[in-house]
Amino acid sequence: MDVAAPTLLTSTGRAPRRAAPCTFVIFGAAGDLTKRLLLPALYNLAIGQLLPDAFAVVGVARAEMSDDEFRRQMAAALKEFASNGINGEALDGLIAHCSYVRGDFDDPSTYGKLKNELAKINRAYNTGDNCLFYLATPPDLFAHVARLLGESGLAKEDNGSWRRLIVEKPFGFDLNSACALNKELLGSFAERQIYRIDHYLGKETVQNIMVLRFANGMFEPIWNRHHIDHVQITVAETVSVESRGKFYDRTGALRDMVPNHLFQLLALTAMEPPSRFDADAVRTEKLKAIRAIHPLTKESAFADVVRGQYTAGSVKGKPVVAYREAQGVSPHSLTESYVAIRLMIDNWRWAGVPFYLRTGKALTARRTEIAIKFRSAPLALFRDMPVESLAQNLLILRIQPDEGAALHFNAKIPGPDVRIENVRMNFKYEDYFDVAPSTGYETLIYDCMISDPMLFQRAIDIESGWRVVDPILKA
Ligand code: BG6
Repeated sequence: MDVAAPTLLTSTGRAPRRAAPCTFVIFGAAGDLTKRLLLPALYNLAIGQLLPDAFAVVGVARAEMSDDEFRRQMAAALKEFASNGINGEALDGLIAHCSYVRGDFDDPSTYGKLKNELAKINRAYNTGDNCLFYLATPPDLFAHVARLLGESGLAKEDNGSWRRLIVEKPFGFDLNSACALNKELLGSFAERQIYRIDHYLGKETVQNIMVLRFANGMFEPIWNRHHIDHVQITVAETVSVESRGKFYDRTGALRDMVPNHLFQLLALTAMEPPSRFDADAVRTEKLKAIRAIHPLTKESAFADVVRGQYTAGSVKGKPVVAYREAQGVSPHSLTESYVAIRLMIDNWRWAGVPFYLRTGKALTARRTEIAIKFRSAPLALFRDMPVESLAQNLLILRIQPDEGAALHFNAKIPGPDVRIENVRMNFKYEDYFDVAPSTGYETLIYDCMISDPMLFQRAIDIESGWRVVDPILKA
């Protein structure tokens, strides 16, 4: 079967090339993330000829399993979750390079076994001793695993080799825990070795926000408070908490979505044009936007933030039990499954322009979008028309599903008298680009392999996000 290669956007603007030889080590290899996203992403990279020839995957987990059993499970997962069909040769090639190390994450001997396995792989494939450690474990183990990697010498880069650490979200539980986690990681790895993932940055449409703003001459001149009335950023999900109740009830919509995914969307929308398209320049401009958010206080949080929980109902015709009745959720829970926030950004571009952020689970439609509402035209010409009959000028960036963008404006209805109607110009990705489905993780994993940290967060970026939401958590 012919399988299309996923399209990668490299932030350097150069044609993608095969990544350097390396071993991809997954802590938590028996989990869902590995099966649903990581392995399919590696497979898509293999199909796209972006993996190095000298490449291996090592799974680390607690379950008793032989190499063969691990390979069998990974092959089955790929067949189930690969987004675009399976090419037998590519599958066999990837699976043949998978091996397994069994061990407890808090047992130093696990890291000794891993060291031996990596040495063996290096001898067999010549991976240059380069290694990428992916923490797909429960979050309370991140610091632990990183420390033991450090203590066992596995974080050390000898003789020109590199060692990198990818850390999944949630990164901390609040500002203090995020700072503590950063400190722990930095005890074993240098900042340049740490890649903190926010999977929203792997989405094509999220990366496209910068292209739309800065590769076109027409948006930037009006992208400011003189022309924009307000911005709405929405991440609406139809899924309920389902089986994640235990995790979610300790987390809630605010922690789960806002300082990470929604702030990424906000930063890309609000940032100043970076002076260069490189990792530090881009991340620094995004950071400046987040830092310019007017600080909330415990008191202002009551006026500017709404939190809610879903009750029993139905989504897309299927019954959904109330949040408090979901498995793993306390019947008295006060954790929010919905949050809406009004934020102001204190700089010359955005002073006085509210940014409304909202996200929730078990809502009626799945929709992630950024709506830019432009100021209304002076009504002198059409003063006899009822104002409400004039359309709002909106630019909607649809992140998912139905990826694209739409511009809403007024047009004259054909006929002898002047009547106006709201019309829409609609761009759909699928109409222009033949893009093979991807998990969003391809770009992120590949960027880590080629040492391009633009789409990853630095310690300071993470901490700035938490600093904004911390007063809400305390209110
Ligand atoms: C995750 C959250 O980070 O993002 C989930 O933990 C949420 O609760 C998910 O459902 C949303 O991601 P996406 O890509 O489906 O919009």
